[in-house]
Amino acid sequence: MSRIAYVNGRYLPLAAAQIRVEDRGFLFGDGIYEVVYVNRGRFVDAEKHLARLERSLREVRIAMPVGRPALEGILREIVERNRIRDSGLIYIQITRGAARREHVFPQAGTRPTLVVTARALASFPKDVDTWATGIVTGPDQRWARCDIKTVNLLPNVLAKQAAKEAGAFEMALVDEAGMVTECASSNIWIVDAAGRLRTRPLGHDILPGCTRAALAELLAGERLTLEERAFSLDDLRAAREVFITSATSFVRPITRIDGATVGEGEVGPVTRQLFAAFSRHVQGGLPNAA
Ligand code: PDD
Repeated sequence: MSRIAYVNGRYLPLAAAQIRVEDRGFLFGDGIYEVVYVNRGRFVDAEKHLARLERSLREVRIAMPVGRPALEGILREIVERNRIRDSGLIYIQITRGAARREHVFPQAGTRPTLVVTARALASFPKDVDTWATGIVTGPDQRWARCDIKTVNLLPNVLAKQAAKEAGAFEMALVDEAGMVTECASSNIWIVDAAGRLRTRPLGHDILPGCTRAALAELLAGERLTLEERAFSLDDLRAAREVFITSATSFVRPITRIDGATVGEGEVGPVTRQLFAAFSRHVQGGLPNAA
């Protein structure tokens, strides 16, 4: 069955869906996006993703092309039309629209472009041990507003490709002070050498992950406390446990960094507990109202 895309009011087979050559997303990366995980008809952390989408748009001064209820309707429709019953992701992109190529904003009234696609994913991982993976480390070469989820992802693309070529899944990015910011497409957490659960505080240098926020809310019920305090590359290498979070990585254990094992090279107890807690968060609850 062919996949269906939503583009500016129309649902079309992916191969037939088009945007204009002068779309500013294409020309300048002048747009923002979101990725939402859908599990058995339920949009995981939808409220957080839609709030971040609206915030990203405000920060770059792009108007929301449709209201929130209409967008939610499009999300439900795209999942239905792509027949995603079990596990999948929804991709939403909004750009400043199509106009003659000039850096300054196009004239008032230029309609933002809205694209929504969806695709099936493998089922939510059952086994945390086989979900574990490896990362490499490298310099953070991104801009100064990484808190905005823009489609300007060239440094992230290069980092992720370098990780792949090194046989790893992700790259942990390190700033000029030797501190870890986040990964190319996920946030990163550690249980440090002293046993403290840590992740970098929010700021302009990382994306405020929706999975990060959801997991932070689950911690009280797990009798765990979080220290939002930056950690260095040395702290990362000395950590007892390391894991990453994102809409499609969930809580993903990291057992190798630059080829060296983390701790004993096994998934640690805190990561195991948080994977289980997040798994309940994903699988629990009711489907979205139709
Ligand atoms: N990436 N940091 C970066 C740089 C990201 O690109 C992402 C998400 C995250 C985690 O955010 P969240 O928990 O809200 O997914 C952190 C998405 C999945 C992507 O680009 O495909």
